[in-house]
Amino acid sequence: IPVDPFDLVIFGGTGDLARRKILPALFRRFCAGQMEEGTRIIGAARSQMDDVEYRAFVAEALLEFNSGHSGCEPGTIKRFQKTLSYVTLDARGEEGWDALAAKMHPGRVRAFYFSVGPSLFSDLAQRLHQYGMADHDARIVVEKPFGRDLATAQALNRSLAEHFDESQIYRIDHYLGKETVQNLMALRFGNMLFEPLWNSRYVDHIQITVAETVGVGGRGEYYDRAGAMRDMVQNHLMQLLCLIAMEPPAKFDPDAVRDEKLKVIRALGEVGRDDLVRGQYLADHEKPGYLEHVENPDSITESFIAMKLNVINWRWAGTPFYLRTGKRLSDRASEIAVVFKEAPHNIFTEDTGRHRNILTIRLQPNEGIDLDVTIKEPGPGGMRLVDVPLDMTFSEALGPDADDAADAYERLIMDVVRGNQTLFMRGDEVEAAWAWTDPIIASWEARGDKPIPYATGSFGPEDALALLHRSGRKWREIRA
Ligand code: BG6
Repeated sequence: IPVDPFDLVIFGGTGDLARRKILPALFRRFCAGQMEEGTRIIGAARSQMDDVEYRAFVAEALLEFNSGHSGCEPGTIKRFQKTLSYVTLDARGEEGWDALAAKMHPGRVRAFYFSVGPSLFSDLAQRLHQYGMADHDARIVVEKPFGRDLATAQALNRSLAEHFDESQIYRIDHYLGKETVQNLMALRFGNMLFEPLWNSRYVDHIQITVAETVGVGGRGEYYDRAGAMRDMVQNHLMQLLCLIAMEPPAKFDPDAVRDEKLKVIRALGEVGRDDLVRGQYLADHEKPGYLEHVENPDSITESFIAMKLNVINWRWAGTPFYLRTGKRLSDRASEIAVVFKEAPHNIFTEDTGRHRNILTIRLQPNEGIDLDVTIKEPGPGGMRLVDVPLDMTFSEALGPDADDAADAYERLIMDVVRGNQTLFMRGDEVEAAWAWTDPIIASWEARGDKPIPYATGSFGPEDALALLHRSGRKWREIRA
């Protein structure tokens, strides 16, 4: 469904995120016919450039980062370029602001994408106000990291709130835009089958894995100050945990959903020293290790983290949640596994195995859902049991279009334009997540804990396996 023409300003319009994600996402929505004639996309950054140069810059980015996507004809880039213009702008000075204000169409939805470091967020908000662009038609989109602890997140929230109402602030967590992440809500709240079993009486434990094969590459400076806890757990994994653990909201509306997520974060227990494993990847014969990547031989920042945590409420008390994420692991594979308890009594005495139903939600790659069920092993050998998956790979079940489902940024940007905040983090949610994260980081810092080295291409440090083994559980294999 096309949306009314809008103005979208990308601060940091020549940056990496703009090239890789934001501009290709906008282009694909354009190809899909969602942008009405008259929509304006305005790049703003410090570099000296004119409109013609910016259009060429964007075309280059699209050729580099949009290849492989169907549905866009080469000629479409030319039409898309007509929506683009550029303003040279100084976030902290006066240059460019009058020119930007002059480009705005009164009465239209006006979205400002802060694709810049958080140190510029307050300046941008203040300037938008000063130059008359922060009225009720305005929306701002802010990227992570939203602070590096509770105090900095609160300060950011306060400075944005000086000029914008919460309903105008869209804090992006791109994991919430992933197709399968939303399917998690459809699965839980659109089916009768799962919800009655979705609690500690039936669920033994839950695993959330976000495994990456990439290292920290060119982002060493940022990453070394963040680490996996701040970079991934406080936001992406926390959001996944919320969607898995939350109570059914009464409505699928932004505040109803976010209220329930917030309650989950506030119910999280402390994480003790024994329930946490941090790791750092080593070099292998061809690739440098973490310490070389971040150019800091003494770094004790983690590139891998695994932990056991508890959601202490009626639904989940007694069911541990295990989280792990890391770089340079064996495969890029992200999934959530809900591991049900064993049947209370085994009537098949010939069978000595342990059988559990496992519902796995595969986020990437190969999006889908499968459910391990226990059946009789075929053949005349008696009642021996075997676990087999009921597999629903979305691209098989729903056809090839499912493969081409809008990418997270496409969906989220269009939600901003439509004014739907359901898939964005509210200020209090982000603060609650930091309030839980801060003491965990503080305690390992106080102890001076060092991360455990692990081999590139492994599943992380052995200790992460032991985190589950000691209670007779095991991680599911990381498999793409
Ligand atoms: C980003 C993190 O938010 O998410 C990166 O900063 C990480 O370190 C990335 O690689 C993972 O996103 P995706 O969509 O590739 O799983």
